[in-house]
Amino acid sequence: MIHAKQQALDVLKQKILEDGTCLELADQATNLVMGDGNPDADIVFIGEAPGKSEDEQGLPFVGASGKFLNEMLAEAGMVRDDVYITNIVKYRPPNNRDPLPEEKKEFWPYLLKQLQVIEPKVVITLGRHSMEYFLPGMKISQIHGEPKRIAFGDDHLVIVPLYHPAAALYNGSLRQTLIDDFLRVPVIIKNSAYPERG
Ligand code: URA
Repeated sequence: MIHAKQQALDVLKQKILEDGTCLELADQATNLVMGDGNPDADIVFIGEAPGKSEDEQGLPFVGASGKFLNEMLAEAGMVRDDVYITNIVKYRPPNNRDPLPEEKKEFWPYLLKQLQVIEPKVVITLGRHSMEYFLPGMKISQIHGEPKRIAFGDDHLVIVPLYHPAAALYNGSLRQTLIDDFLRVPVIIKNSAYPERG
């Protein structure tokens, strides 16, 4: 039986297609990369946009960054099926360029709906592109790893901004910072009812 949340996510994916969202990116992409993992998860990871492997396979974080993400999940005692993984922009930008502000803006309402369906306790943004929408005006170098509480509908969400695995992959000190931040995530989730105020 398909889970109700997965069904709602499938409907949302169909809506993104039918609405003609980001047609310029869609025209050049192989797949709309909606997400992967467990729609019932307490933790949602949000990256930037699919790369080449993600576009080919239709799944987020399956290339080099994904391998690093999987390794950090394992070190934190988790597997991909314990979490849900998605991106702010759901089509691959040509040549892996940064997503444009208008592309992020077009996908933002669908990302919010995705979160309304999943109802996570904690959202982990990977890199500044997804962080800046949840925590406008903040700098990742100053707040990485710090849980922030934001209003979300009638409730709240805890956002934990982390560096993007791709940025940290080949930079030794950033890599260690990301791993250290990542390993604190299970504690943050445990305490997520009472995080530090943003
Ligand atoms: N980088 C991202 O931000 N997302 C992916 O899915 C893959 C690489």
